[in-house]
Amino acid sequence: GAAELGPYRHYMQKEIFEQPRAIADTLEGVQGIVPALFGDGAAQVFEQIDSVLILACGTSYYSGCTAKYWLESVAKIPTQVEVASEYRYRESVPNPRQLIVTISQSGETADTLAALRHAQSLGHAHTLTICNVATSAMVRECALAYITRAGVEIGVASTKAFTTQLAGLFLLTLALAQAKGHLSAAQEAAHLQAMRHLPVALQAVLALEPQIIGWAEDFARMQNALFLGRGLHYPIALEGALKLKEISYIHAEAYPAGELKHGPLALVTSAMPVVTVAPNDALLEKLKSNMQEVRARGGVLYVLADADTRIESSEGLHVIRMPEHYGALSPILHVVPLQLLAYHTACALGTDVDKPRNLAKSVTVE
Ligand code: G6P
Repeated sequence: GAAELGPYRHYMQKEIFEQPRAIADTLEGVQGIVPALFGDGAAQVFEQIDSVLILACGTSYYSGCTAKYWLESVAKIPTQVEVASEYRYRESVPNPRQLIVTISQSGETADTLAALRHAQSLGHAHTLTICNVATSAMVRECALAYITRAGVEIGVASTKAFTTQLAGLFLLTLALAQAKGHLSAAQEAAHLQAMRHLPVALQAVLALEPQIIGWAEDFARMQNALFLGRGLHYPIALEGALKLKEISYIHAEAYPAGELKHGPLALVTSAMPVVTVAPNDALLEKLKSNMQEVRARGGVLYVLADADTRIESSEGLHVIRMPEHYGALSPILHVVPLQLLAYHTACALGTDVDKPRNLAKSVTVE
């Protein structure tokens, strides 16, 4: 009811603003990277496995897509990510040394549970879940688990569950990196320090809300939107597009920026806003040339630019500058303005933000 909502208009807005607390709770008690964070027997499992297969649906699938970049770059572990409903119904080649990782807010999603059971039936014994509900079927049925502490999520469009999953997945990355000899004590300390800074960093990003509201006024007049990202931020572009679709009903799709010229550029006009996630990483210069391609076709850019990138607002180019440069944890920060953009666009359009049409919070039947 209204009392629980406090100063917020919707649960989704409340949950977006709870993220600093949700991440702090999820990381509470993590003094160092030890396999036991994931349960008894994790040390032996982490030693034995040679690759990771992540299975999930919806927003949880996109946290898995982000984790693939971390697992391959930081832990050097070959990683696949697959939508649960695809994996469960196709013939695949099982590898008993592979770690199956399911990701689920509810722990009850029918396709994700079925995908887990399918993997087990193929002989996969090493299973781990990143899950927000400790008492769920998913946690009961996986050998290992990391429980995120987002708290109850009511808005159908997932927000704090996503960022806490990313925090859990980054811990898993560090634990696997350590098990495989790719994490020095100094690196461990630096990563943990960066993780402990997340709540403060998130707070500063949430303070960008007034600027995002300005963007949302433009988006509420659009029928389509394109989201671009590269590398680690391509899944964040996917999640940004999903959020906008789910609650504002505006058609949105995401592309890895390098694919722009292989199709979506044909759609770019002044009626197609292009959101670009532009962290200051090795791909920034390439992203800048993708942005020029959009401008040359009259497309209007909405850029989330890193603190120290020299991208300035100009005609057809709207820049919101992120407060800091976050390194590997950058996706956890960059998704927040995209959540707020979807939220405020939906508010401007007057949709039922917490219960969007045709969607359910948890899909427990196929
Ligand atoms: C539904 C929800 C999404 C969620 C997905 C997976 O589609 O609307 O917000 O991401 O299910 O749910 P899970 O509980 O498995 O994370």
